[in-house]
Amino acid sequence: MKVVIIYGNHTGGSTEHCVSIVKNVLASFGECSFTEFFLPTDLPVICRGCFRCFEDGEETCPDARLVQPIVSAMREADGLIFASPVYACEVSGAMKTLFDHLCYIWMTHRPMEEMFSKVGMVISVTAGAGTVTSIRTMEKNFRYWGVKRTIGFGAAVQAMSWNEVASAKKTKLEAKLTRKASRFYRMMELRYTLRPMIFQRIMFKLLGKMIQGYEPGSRLSRDQNYWRDKGWFNGKSPFMRGARE
Ligand SMILES: Cc1cc2nc3c(=O)[nH]c(=O)nc-3n(C[C@H](O)[C@H](O)[C@H](O)COP(=O)(O)O)c2cc1C
Repeated sequence: MKVVIIYGNHTGGSTEHCVSIVKNVLASFGECSFTEFFLPTDLPVICRGCFRCFEDGEETCPDARLVQPIVSAMREADGLIFASPVYACEVSGAMKTLFDHLCYIWMTHRPMEEMFSKVGMVISVTAGAGTVTSIRTMEKNFRYWGVKRTIGFGAAVQAMSWNEVASAKKTKLEAKLTRKASRFYRMMELRYTLRPMIFQRIMFKLLGKMIQGYEPGSRLSRDQNYWRDKGWFNGKSPFMRGARE
């Protein structure tokens, strides 16, 4: 299995330790390759809001050289793991920066066909509070990218570093993460046969109608052409691909 892991920080702390538990479990089931990106190290620039990805194509983003290697790795993967510490009761700014850079792959614009047969896992690590909101943020992005199913996991470590985490807490975390990781591996195996979520199917239909209705020469005509070229205005859908394989 090919797994892309995105870390919302680069501290060598509890977030990385939680992911390493998951990696060990996944590797115990079969051959797994992990492609990892650490934020902000691998993407140290915020989205400037220039709209070029939407209007002129993602390759014209001033930060494409940093963003596109992440997108390519995600395209190739069977599963995606996003893990973020909680900062200010949300995902880290570094993680949010990646989400901002990837707005063009939302279903509202030009979703990647490959996403519709992928599964995801999101992990939120906090000292005390904020995992619910952070998990929701990561899951929402996955859902609008087309990811079929996502498992969420929140860890309240009550510590500022992994060394300070109580050993009883570590044992509990390891047991819970092992269960979640096992389920994630199983979902990767079943990714082509899992039923798409009703929400995504309805959303895809509604958005198709909206995008098809754009005026000729609209600033979002790239999105409209993309959907037309895929045949998505004429009954084709990215969900069919998953069902066939
Ligand atoms: C800038 C910053 C903001 C934080 N905000 C919160 C917060 O809102 N709620 C909370 O419970 N913990 C907060 N924390 C604690 C971290 O979520 C916690 O220590 C986490 O384990 C850090 O991840 P790491 O161990 O992978 O570095 C914050 C830490 C930092 C550095």
